[in-house]
Amino acid sequence: MSQKQKVDTIKNDKPRAKDDLLALEAKYCSWGDTVHYVNNPNIFKRCEGSYLYDDEGVEFLDLQMLYSACNFGYANPRLNNALKKQIDTLPQLACQYLHEEKVLLASRLAQRAERTFEEKGRVHFNVGGSTAVEDSLKLVRNHTGRNLVFAFMGGYHGRTIAVSAITSSFRYRQHFGHFGDRAMFIPYPYCFRCPYGKKKDSCGMYCLKQFEKLFETEYYGVVNKKDNVCEFAAFYIESIQGTGGYVIPPREYFAGLKEILDRYNILMVDDEIQMGFFRTGKFWAIEHFGVTPDIIVFGKAMTNGLNPLSAIWAKEALISPKVFPPGSTHSTFSSNPLGTATALEVMDLIDESDFASEVSKKGRYFITRLKALQKKYPQIGDVDGLGLALRIELCQKDGYTPNKELTDAIEQIGLSGRLSAGGKRRGLVLDVGGYYKNAFTLAPSLYITEKEIDLGVDLFEEAFLKALKGS
Ligand SMILES: Cc1ncc(COP(=O)(O)O)c(C=O)c1O
Repeated sequence: MSQKQKVDTIKNDKPRAKDDLLALEAKYCSWGDTVHYVNNPNIFKRCEGSYLYDDEGVEFLDLQMLYSACNFGYANPRLNNALKKQIDTLPQLACQYLHEEKVLLASRLAQRAERTFEEKGRVHFNVGGSTAVEDSLKLVRNHTGRNLVFAFMGGYHGRTIAVSAITSSFRYRQHFGHFGDRAMFIPYPYCFRCPYGKKKDSCGMYCLKQFEKLFETEYYGVVNKKDNVCEFAAFYIESIQGTGGYVIPPREYFAGLKEILDRYNILMVDDEIQMGFFRTGKFWAIEHFGVTPDIIVFGKAMTNGLNPLSAIWAKEALISPKVFPPGSTHSTFSSNPLGTATALEVMDLIDESDFASEVSKKGRYFITRLKALQKKYPQIGDVDGLGLALRIELCQKDGYTPNKELTDAIEQIGLSGRLSAGGKRRGLVLDVGGYYKNAFTLAPSLYITEKEIDLGVDLFEEAFLKALKGS
Protein backbone atom coordinates (compact mmCIF):
# COMPACT_ATOMS: atom_id res chain seq x y z
CA MET A 1 0.00 0.00 0.00
CA SER A 2 1.42 3.42 -0.90
CA GLN A 3 1.90 6.12 1.76
CA LYS A 4 -0.92 8.14 0.19
CA GLN A 5 -3.36 5.24 0.39
CA LYS A 6 -2.44 4.66 4.02
CA VAL A 7 -3.26 8.30 4.85
CA ASP A 8 -6.54 7.96 2.99
CA THR A 9 -7.61 5.08 5.23
CA ILE A 10 -8.35 7.69 7.91
CA LYS A 11 -11.48 9.02 6.34
CA ASN A 12 -14.32 10.75 8.03
CA ASP A 13 -16.83 8.39 6.43
CA LYS A 14 -18.04 6.24 9.30
CA PRO A 15 -18.41 6.43 13.05
CA ARG A 16 -15.45 4.87 14.82
CA ALA A 17 -15.42 2.82 17.98
CA LYS A 18 -14.14 4.55 21.08
CA ASP A 19 -11.07 2.31 21.33
CA ASP A 20 -10.09 3.06 17.72
CA LEU A 21 -10.40 6.77 18.32
CA LEU A 22 -8.38 6.57 21.51
CA ALA A 23 -5.66 4.66 19.66
CA LEU A 24 -5.50 7.36 16.98
CA GLU A 25 -5.56 10.06 19.65
CA ALA A 26 -2.69 8.42 21.49
CA LYS A 27 -0.66 8.46 18.30
CA TYR A 28 -1.53 11.77 16.67
CA CYS A 29 -2.94 14.26 19.19
CA SER A 30 -0.68 16.34 21.36
CA TRP A 31 -1.24 15.56 24.99
CA GLY A 32 -0.13 19.04 25.96
CA ASP A 33 -3.70 20.18 26.54
CA THR A 34 -5.82 19.10 29.50
CA VAL A 35 -7.54 15.97 28.13
CA HIS A 36 -5.19 13.59 29.90
CA TYR A 37 -5.79 15.03 33.33
CA VAL A 38 -7.97 11.90 33.62
CA ASN A 39 -7.33 8.34 32.48
CA ASN A 40 -9.54 6.96 29.76
CA PRO A 41 -11.04 10.29 28.60
CA ASN A 42 -14.69 10.40 27.57
CA ILE A 43 -15.74 10.96 23.98
CA PHE A 44 -19.06 12.73 23.67
CA LYS A 45 -21.34 12.72 20.65
CA ARG A 46 -24.21 15.08 21.39
CA CYS A 47 -25.35 17.72 23.84
CA GLU A 48 -28.62 19.35 24.81
CA GLY A 49 -29.72 21.54 27.71
CA SER A 50 -27.86 20.37 30.81
CA TYR A 51 -26.73 17.07 29.29
CA LEU A 52 -23.92 15.48 27.30
CA TYR A 53 -24.42 12.10 25.58
CA ASP A 54 -21.71 9.56 24.77
CA ASP A 55 -21.64 7.07 21.89
CA GLU A 56 -23.77 4.59 23.82
CA GLY A 57 -26.37 7.26 24.41
CA VAL A 58 -25.62 7.49 28.15
CA GLU A 59 -26.87 10.78 29.57
CA PHE A 60 -24.38 12.80 31.62
CA LEU A 61 -25.71 15.64 33.74
CA ASP A 62 -23.18 18.43 33.31
CA LEU A 63 -22.57 20.62 36.35
CA GLN A 64 -19.63 22.48 34.83
CA MET A 65 -21.02 23.55 31.42
CA LEU A 66 -17.80 24.08 29.51
CA TYR A 67 -16.15 25.85 32.43
CA SER A 68 -19.12 28.22 32.59
CA ALA A 69 -18.97 29.09 28.87
CA CYS A 70 -22.32 27.49 28.25
CA ASN A 71 -24.48 29.40 30.72
CA PHE A 72 -27.57 29.24 28.51
CA GLY A 73 -27.63 25.48 28.02
CA TYR A 74 -26.09 23.19 25.42
CA ALA A 75 -27.38 23.57 21.89
CA ASN A 76 -29.67 26.42 22.93
CA PRO A 77 -32.00 26.53 19.89
CA ARG A 78 -32.38 30.31 19.90
CA LEU A 79 -28.63 30.94 20.02
CA ASN A 80 -27.88 28.17 17.53
CA ASN A 81 -30.40 29.71 15.13
CA ALA A 82 -28.74 33.11 15.42
CA LEU A 83 -25.47 31.47 14.44
CA LYS A 84 -27.09 29.56 11.56
CA LYS A 85 -28.73 32.74 10.27
CA GLN A 86 -25.37 34.48 10.27
CA ILE A 87 -23.78 31.55 8.41
CA ASP A 88 -26.19 32.20 5.56
CA THR A 89 -25.62 35.95 5.39
CA LEU A 90 -22.15 37.12 6.44
CA PRO A 91 -20.27 34.18 7.95
CA GLN A 92 -16.77 35.56 7.41
CA LEU A 93 -15.26 39.01 7.25
CA ALA A 94 -11.74 40.31 7.70
CA CYS A 95 -11.75 42.18 10.96
CA GLN A 96 -10.43 45.36 9.32
CA TYR A 97 -13.95 45.92 7.94
CA LEU A 98 -17.07 46.67 9.93
CA HIS A 99 -20.22 44.66 10.27
CA GLU A 100 -23.42 45.67 12.01
CA GLU A 101 -23.31 42.95 14.66
CA LYS A 102 -19.91 44.06 15.95
CA VAL A 103 -20.96 47.70 16.27
CA LEU A 104 -24.27 46.84 17.95
CA LEU A 105 -22.69 44.36 20.34
CA ALA A 106 -19.95 46.79 21.42
CA SER A 107 -22.58 49.52 21.88
CA ARG A 108 -24.86 47.34 23.98
CA LEU A 109 -22.04 46.09 26.20
CA ALA A 110 -20.66 49.61 26.66
CA GLN A 111 -24.10 51.03 27.39
CA ARG A 112 -24.76 48.29 29.94
CA ALA A 113 -21.44 49.07 31.64
CA GLU A 114 -22.31 52.77 31.56
CA ARG A 115 -25.67 52.12 33.24
CA THR A 116 -24.08 49.84 35.84
CA PHE A 117 -20.92 51.75 36.65
CA GLU A 118 -21.80 55.28 35.46
CA GLU A 119 -18.66 55.26 33.33
CA LYS A 120 -18.30 55.86 29.62
CA GLY A 121 -16.12 53.20 28.07
CA ARG A 122 -15.44 51.20 24.92
CA VAL A 123 -15.27 47.55 23.97
CA HIS A 124 -12.41 45.88 22.10
CA PHE A 125 -12.79 42.32 20.76
CA ASN A 126 -10.51 39.32 20.48
CA VAL A 127 -11.04 35.57 20.24
CA GLY A 128 -10.10 33.74 23.44
CA GLY A 129 -9.99 34.62 27.12
CA SER A 130 -6.21 34.61 27.36
CA THR A 131 -5.80 36.81 24.29
CA ALA A 132 -8.25 39.34 25.72
CA VAL A 133 -6.25 39.35 28.95
CA GLU A 134 -3.17 40.00 26.81
CA ASP A 135 -4.95 42.95 25.21
CA SER A 136 -5.77 44.28 28.67
CA LEU A 137 -2.07 44.07 29.56
CA LYS A 138 -1.37 46.30 26.56
CA LEU A 139 -3.91 48.83 27.81
CA VAL A 140 -2.33 48.75 31.25
CA ARG A 141 1.21 49.22 29.94
CA ASN A 142 0.13 51.92 27.53
CA HIS A 143 -1.72 53.89 30.18
CA THR A 144 0.78 53.59 33.01
CA GLY A 145 4.11 53.08 31.23
CA ARG A 146 4.73 50.19 33.64
CA ASN A 147 4.81 46.40 33.21
CA LEU A 148 4.52 44.83 36.62
CA VAL A 149 1.18 43.81 38.07
CA PHE A 150 -0.27 42.30 41.20
CA ALA A 151 -2.44 39.23 40.88
CA PHE A 152 -3.91 36.80 43.36
CA MET A 153 -2.61 33.54 44.70
CA GLY A 154 -5.05 31.00 43.31
CA GLY A 155 -5.83 33.32 40.37
CA TYR A 156 -6.20 32.00 36.84
CA HIS A 157 -6.09 34.25 33.78
CA GLY A 158 -5.08 31.80 31.06
CA ARG A 159 -2.02 30.06 29.68
CA THR A 160 -0.56 32.02 26.78
CA ILE A 161 2.99 33.11 27.51
CA ALA A 162 2.24 36.65 28.71
CA VAL A 163 -0.76 35.55 30.71
CA SER A 164 1.02 32.59 32.32
CA ALA A 165 3.09 35.26 34.04
CA ILE A 166 0.05 36.52 35.94
CA THR A 167 -1.65 33.15 36.50
CA SER A 168 -0.60 31.94 39.91
CA SER A 169 0.41 28.31 39.22
CA PHE A 170 4.14 27.90 38.69
CA ARG A 171 3.28 24.59 37.00
CA TYR A 172 2.15 26.53 33.91
CA ARG A 173 5.47 28.41 33.70
CA GLN A 174 7.82 25.68 34.82
CA HIS A 175 9.02 24.46 31.42
CA PHE A 176 8.90 27.71 29.55
CA GLY A 177 11.84 29.82 30.61
CA HIS A 178 12.11 33.02 32.56
CA PHE A 179 9.05 35.19 33.10
CA GLY A 180 10.38 38.71 33.60
CA ASP A 181 6.90 40.13 34.15
CA ARG A 182 5.81 37.53 36.64
CA ALA A 183 3.11 39.05 38.82
CA MET A 184 3.54 39.62 42.52
CA PHE A 185 0.97 37.22 43.94
CA ILE A 186 -1.08 38.45 46.88
CA PRO A 187 -3.10 36.13 49.19
CA TYR A 188 -6.77 35.97 48.20
CA PRO A 189 -9.47 36.31 50.86
CA TYR A 190 -10.04 32.56 50.97
CA CYS A 191 -11.76 32.52 54.32
CA PHE A 192 -12.28 28.75 54.67
CA ARG A 193 -8.49 28.36 54.52
CA CYS A 194 -7.35 31.84 55.52
CA PRO A 195 -3.73 32.23 54.32
CA TYR A 196 -3.07 34.10 57.58
CA GLY A 197 -4.78 31.53 59.81
CA LYS A 198 -7.48 34.05 60.86
CA LYS A 199 -11.20 33.58 61.39
CA LYS A 200 -13.61 35.48 59.14
CA ASP A 201 -15.76 36.79 62.01
CA SER A 202 -12.89 38.31 63.90
CA CYS A 203 -10.11 39.04 61.38
CA GLY A 204 -10.99 42.69 60.78
CA MET A 205 -9.98 42.19 57.11
CA TYR A 206 -6.45 41.35 58.15
CA CYS A 207 -5.52 40.35 54.55
CA LEU A 208 -6.42 43.79 53.26
CA LYS A 209 -4.35 45.39 56.00
CA GLN A 210 -1.40 43.20 55.05
CA PHE A 211 -1.70 44.35 51.45
CA GLU A 212 -1.90 47.97 52.56
CA LYS A 213 1.22 47.48 54.64
CA LEU A 214 3.23 46.87 51.45
CA PHE A 215 2.96 50.58 50.77
CA GLU A 216 4.19 51.71 54.18
CA THR A 217 7.86 51.97 53.29
CA GLU A 218 9.92 51.78 50.11
CA TYR A 219 11.79 48.88 51.68
CA TYR A 220 8.79 46.58 51.16
CA GLY A 221 9.68 46.90 47.48
CA VAL A 222 6.62 48.29 45.72
CA VAL A 223 6.45 52.07 46.15
CA ASN A 224 8.66 55.13 46.18
CA LYS A 225 7.33 57.05 49.18
CA LYS A 226 8.95 60.32 48.06
CA ASP A 227 6.51 60.75 45.19
CA ASN A 228 4.04 57.89 45.92
CA VAL A 229 4.90 56.20 42.62
CA CYS A 230 4.29 52.47 42.63
CA GLU A 231 6.27 49.98 40.58
CA PHE A 232 3.07 48.01 39.93
CA ALA A 233 0.67 49.16 37.22
CA ALA A 234 -2.43 47.10 37.91
CA PHE A 235 -4.05 44.47 40.08
CA TYR A 236 -5.66 41.57 38.21
CA ILE A 237 -8.61 40.21 40.14
CA GLU A 238 -11.32 37.61 39.80
CA SER A 239 -14.15 38.72 42.05
CA ILE A 240 -14.99 35.03 42.52
CA GLN A 241 -11.97 32.82 41.87
CA GLY A 242 -12.81 30.34 39.11
CA THR A 243 -10.08 27.74 38.75
CA GLY A 244 -9.01 28.68 42.28
CA GLY A 245 -12.15 26.88 43.49
CA TYR A 246 -15.11 29.32 43.30
CA VAL A 247 -13.83 31.12 46.35
CA ILE A 248 -16.13 33.95 47.41
CA PRO A 249 -14.57 36.89 49.29
CA PRO A 250 -16.30 38.96 51.99
CA ARG A 251 -18.59 41.57 50.42
CA GLU A 252 -16.56 44.54 51.61
CA TYR A 253 -13.19 43.24 50.36
CA PHE A 254 -12.95 44.74 46.89
CA ALA A 255 -14.14 48.23 47.90
CA GLY A 256 -11.31 48.26 50.44
CA LEU A 257 -8.84 47.00 47.87
CA LYS A 258 -9.89 49.58 45.26
CA GLU A 259 -9.47 52.36 47.77
CA ILE A 260 -5.85 51.33 48.36
CA LEU A 261 -5.17 50.94 44.62
CA ASP A 262 -6.57 54.38 43.82
CA ARG A 263 -4.16 55.98 46.28
CA TYR A 264 -1.25 54.79 44.14
CA ASN A 265 -2.82 55.01 40.67
CA ILE A 266 -2.90 51.25 40.31
CA LEU A 267 -5.55 50.05 37.87
CA MET A 268 -8.02 47.34 38.82
CA VAL A 269 -8.52 44.79 36.04
CA ASP A 270 -11.51 42.57 36.65
CA ASP A 271 -11.34 39.18 34.92
CA GLU A 272 -14.98 38.16 34.37
CA ILE A 273 -14.16 35.49 31.81
CA GLN A 274 -15.65 32.77 33.99
CA MET A 275 -18.07 34.70 36.21
CA GLY A 276 -19.57 37.18 33.74
CA PHE A 277 -22.96 36.84 32.02
CA PHE A 278 -25.04 36.06 35.10
CA ARG A 279 -23.11 33.08 36.48
CA THR A 280 -23.42 34.70 39.92
CA GLY A 281 -26.86 36.25 39.40
CA LYS A 282 -25.52 39.57 38.14
CA PHE A 283 -24.24 40.44 34.68
CA TRP A 284 -20.78 41.05 36.16
CA ALA A 285 -19.81 39.29 39.38
CA ILE A 286 -18.03 42.46 40.55
CA GLU A 287 -21.47 44.12 40.85
CA HIS A 288 -21.95 42.19 44.10
CA PHE A 289 -19.07 44.15 45.58
CA GLY A 290 -20.00 47.75 44.73
CA VAL A 291 -16.79 48.51 42.86
CA THR A 292 -16.09 49.97 39.41
CA PRO A 293 -13.05 48.34 37.84
CA ASP A 294 -10.92 50.21 35.30
CA ILE A 295 -10.92 47.33 32.83
CA ILE A 296 -13.19 44.27 32.54
CA VAL A 297 -12.16 41.19 30.56
CA PHE A 298 -14.76 38.70 29.37
CA GLY A 299 -15.41 35.88 26.91
CA LYS A 300 -16.75 32.34 27.36
CA ALA A 301 -20.54 32.71 27.90
CA MET A 302 -20.73 35.81 25.68
CA THR A 303 -21.41 33.39 22.80
CA ASN A 304 -22.65 30.53 24.98
CA GLY A 305 -19.51 28.62 24.01
CA LEU A 306 -20.28 28.83 20.30
CA ASN A 307 -17.99 30.79 17.97
CA PRO A 308 -15.14 31.99 20.18
CA LEU A 309 -15.27 35.67 21.05
CA SER A 310 -13.73 37.62 23.90
CA ALA A 311 -13.44 41.28 24.74
CA ILE A 312 -12.28 43.97 27.08
CA TRP A 313 -14.26 46.93 28.30
CA ALA A 314 -12.22 49.87 29.54
CA LYS A 315 -12.83 53.36 30.82
CA GLU A 316 -12.64 55.95 28.06
CA ALA A 317 -9.39 57.44 29.32
CA LEU A 318 -7.63 54.11 28.79
CA ILE A 319 -9.06 53.12 25.44
CA SER A 320 -10.08 56.20 23.47
CA PRO A 321 -8.64 56.27 19.92
CA LYS A 322 -6.32 59.08 21.02
CA VAL A 323 -4.45 56.77 23.41
CA PHE A 324 -5.15 53.31 21.92
CA PRO A 325 -4.87 53.94 18.19
CA PRO A 326 -5.69 51.63 15.25
CA GLY A 327 -3.53 48.53 15.11
CA SER A 328 -2.81 48.41 18.85
CA THR A 329 -3.91 44.76 18.74
CA HIS A 330 -5.09 42.46 15.98
CA SER A 331 -6.13 38.89 15.46
CA THR A 332 -7.53 37.44 12.22
CA PHE A 333 -10.67 36.20 13.92
CA SER A 334 -11.32 38.95 16.46
CA SER A 335 -14.87 40.35 16.26
CA ASN A 336 -15.79 37.52 13.89
CA PRO A 337 -19.39 37.85 12.60
CA LEU A 338 -20.51 34.41 13.81
CA GLY A 339 -19.41 35.26 17.33
CA THR A 340 -20.81 38.78 17.41
CA ALA A 341 -24.16 37.68 15.93
CA THR A 342 -24.50 34.97 18.57
CA ALA A 343 -23.46 37.34 21.33
CA LEU A 344 -26.04 39.89 20.20
CA GLU A 345 -28.70 37.19 20.57
CA VAL A 346 -27.29 36.45 24.04
CA MET A 347 -27.80 40.12 24.91
CA ASP A 348 -31.42 39.95 23.68
CA LEU A 349 -32.03 36.76 25.60
CA ILE A 350 -30.66 38.38 28.75
CA ASP A 351 -32.80 41.49 28.28
CA GLU A 352 -35.92 39.37 27.87
CA SER A 353 -35.20 37.15 30.89
CA ASP A 354 -34.99 37.70 34.61
CA PHE A 355 -31.72 35.91 35.33
CA ALA A 356 -31.07 38.20 38.31
CA SER A 357 -33.85 36.65 40.37
CA GLU A 358 -33.96 33.23 38.66
CA VAL A 359 -30.27 32.50 39.17
CA SER A 360 -30.31 33.68 42.78
CA LYS A 361 -33.40 31.57 43.52
CA LYS A 362 -31.94 28.43 41.92
CA GLY A 363 -28.60 29.05 43.61
CA ARG A 364 -30.30 29.27 47.01
CA TYR A 365 -32.14 26.01 46.38
CA PHE A 366 -28.97 24.25 45.20
CA ILE A 367 -26.94 25.42 48.17
CA THR A 368 -29.62 24.38 50.64
CA ARG A 369 -29.49 20.86 49.23
CA LEU A 370 -25.67 20.81 49.29
CA LYS A 371 -25.60 22.10 52.88
CA ALA A 372 -27.89 19.21 53.85
CA LEU A 373 -25.32 16.81 52.35
CA GLN A 374 -22.57 18.61 54.21
CA LYS A 375 -24.40 17.96 57.49
CA LYS A 376 -24.50 14.23 56.70
CA TYR A 377 -20.86 13.79 55.67
CA PRO A 378 -17.87 15.22 57.56
CA GLN A 379 -15.75 14.88 54.39
CA ILE A 380 -17.68 17.77 52.84
CA GLY A 381 -15.69 20.50 54.50
CA ASP A 382 -17.08 23.57 52.79
CA VAL A 383 -20.06 24.42 50.66
CA ASP A 384 -20.57 27.95 49.40
CA GLY A 385 -22.02 29.75 46.43
CA LEU A 386 -23.11 32.96 44.79
CA GLY A 387 -25.90 32.54 42.27
CA LEU A 388 -25.09 29.41 40.30
CA ALA A 389 -21.35 29.50 40.99
CA LEU A 390 -21.13 26.87 43.71
CA ARG A 391 -18.32 25.08 45.48
CA ILE A 392 -17.97 21.80 47.36
CA GLU A 393 -14.66 21.23 49.11
CA LEU A 394 -13.71 17.62 49.88
CA CYS A 395 -11.71 16.90 53.01
CA GLN A 396 -10.63 14.11 55.29
CA LYS A 397 -12.96 13.15 58.14
CA ASP A 398 -11.75 16.16 60.13
CA GLY A 399 -13.64 18.35 57.67
CA TYR A 400 -10.55 20.41 56.87
CA THR A 401 -7.51 18.48 55.57
CA PRO A 402 -7.80 18.54 51.75
CA ASN A 403 -8.79 15.21 50.20
CA LYS A 404 -7.69 15.19 46.58
CA GLU A 405 -7.95 11.40 46.28
CA LEU A 406 -11.63 11.42 47.21
CA THR A 407 -12.24 14.34 44.83
CA ASP A 408 -10.53 12.57 41.92
CA ALA A 409 -12.40 9.36 42.65
CA ILE A 410 -15.78 11.15 42.63
CA GLU A 411 -14.90 12.85 39.35
CA GLN A 412 -13.87 9.55 37.73
CA ILE A 413 -16.97 7.73 38.98
CA GLY A 414 -19.16 10.53 37.57
CA LEU A 415 -17.40 10.31 34.20
CA SER A 416 -17.65 6.52 34.09
CA GLY A 417 -21.34 6.93 33.31
CA ARG A 418 -22.28 4.11 35.65
CA LEU A 419 -24.45 5.92 38.16
CA SER A 420 -28.11 5.09 38.53
CA ALA A 421 -29.78 7.87 40.54
CA GLY A 422 -33.01 8.87 38.86
CA GLY A 423 -33.73 5.30 37.73
CA LYS A 424 -31.51 4.85 34.69
CA ARG A 425 -27.82 4.61 33.81
CA ARG A 426 -26.28 8.05 33.94
CA GLY A 427 -23.07 10.01 34.32
CA LEU A 428 -22.14 13.22 36.07
CA VAL A 429 -19.72 15.83 34.74
CA LEU A 430 -17.88 17.77 37.41
CA ASP A 431 -14.91 20.10 37.27
CA VAL A 432 -12.16 19.96 39.87
CA GLY A 433 -10.51 23.17 41.03
CA GLY A 434 -9.14 24.76 44.14
CA TYR A 435 -5.69 25.33 45.57
CA TYR A 436 -5.44 21.68 46.65
CA LYS A 437 -7.45 20.30 43.73
CA ASN A 438 -10.03 19.13 46.22
CA ALA A 439 -12.93 21.40 45.27
CA PHE A 440 -15.73 20.88 42.80
CA THR A 441 -16.59 24.10 41.02
CA LEU A 442 -20.20 23.79 39.98
CA ALA A 443 -21.39 25.89 37.06
CA PRO A 444 -24.70 24.39 35.92
CA SER A 445 -26.79 25.76 33.09
CA LEU A 446 -28.64 28.88 34.22
CA TYR A 447 -31.77 27.10 32.96
CA ILE A 448 -31.28 24.13 35.28
CA THR A 449 -34.57 23.11 36.88
CA GLU A 450 -35.17 22.21 40.54
CA LYS A 451 -35.72 18.62 39.39
CA GLU A 452 -32.33 18.62 37.69
CA ILE A 453 -30.72 20.14 40.77
CA ASP A 454 -32.22 17.29 42.81
CA LEU A 455 -30.88 14.80 40.28
CA GLY A 456 -27.45 16.45 40.41
CA VAL A 457 -27.32 16.24 44.20
CA ASP A 458 -28.47 12.61 44.13
CA LEU A 459 -25.88 11.68 41.49
CA PHE A 460 -23.21 13.49 43.47
CA GLU A 461 -24.15 11.65 46.67
CA GLU A 462 -24.13 8.31 44.83
CA ALA A 463 -20.66 8.99 43.37
CA PHE A 464 -19.45 10.29 46.73
CA LEU A 465 -20.58 7.12 48.57
CA LYS A 466 -19.08 4.84 45.92
CA ALA A 467 -15.79 6.75 46.16
CA LEU A 468 -15.82 6.53 49.98
CA LYS A 469 -16.43 2.79 49.77
CA GLY A 470 -13.56 2.38 47.34
CA SER A 471 -11.10 4.41 49.39
C1 LIG B 1 -11.01 33.64 34.99
C2 LIG B 1 -10.43 33.17 33.69
N1 LIG B 1 -9.61 33.98 33.03
C3 LIG B 1 -9.06 33.61 31.86
C4 LIG B 1 -9.31 32.38 31.31
C5 LIG B 1 -8.67 31.98 30.01
O1 LIG B 1 -9.61 31.93 28.99
P1 LIG B 1 -9.34 31.01 27.71
O2 LIG B 1 -9.28 29.61 28.18
O3 LIG B 1 -10.51 31.28 26.80
O4 LIG B 1 -8.04 31.47 27.13
C6 LIG B 1 -10.17 31.50 31.98
C7 LIG B 1 -10.45 30.16 31.44
O5 LIG B 1 -10.87 29.25 32.11
C8 LIG B 1 -10.74 31.90 33.21
O6 LIG B 1 -11.56 31.11 33.90
